[in-house]
Amino acid sequence: MATKIGVLNNGPLRLEGEFSIHDAEGREFGLAGRTVISLCRCGHSANKPFCDGAHNREGFQSQIEARELPPPKPKL
Ligand code: FES
Repeated sequence: MATKIGVLNNGPLRLEGEFSIHDAEGREFGLAGRTVISLCRCGHSANKPFCDGAHNREGFQSQIEARELPPPKPKL
């Protein structure tokens, strides 16, 4: 199953499918077999990079609608 990333309005990024999450040193988080997980997008989670529901308490507002991005800039 391809990985699907959903951008939830006023909330986290929701990953579904096959994925792995790594820290800045390349070490993998142990996800205990989860195939769905939410990553904090508001910056208020006490359990970053994962969402802990703080976006609700903090009143995080971000409505996102899918759109086309411009082509990537060529690498020099
Ligand atoms: S998006 Fe849920 S705690 Fe930040």
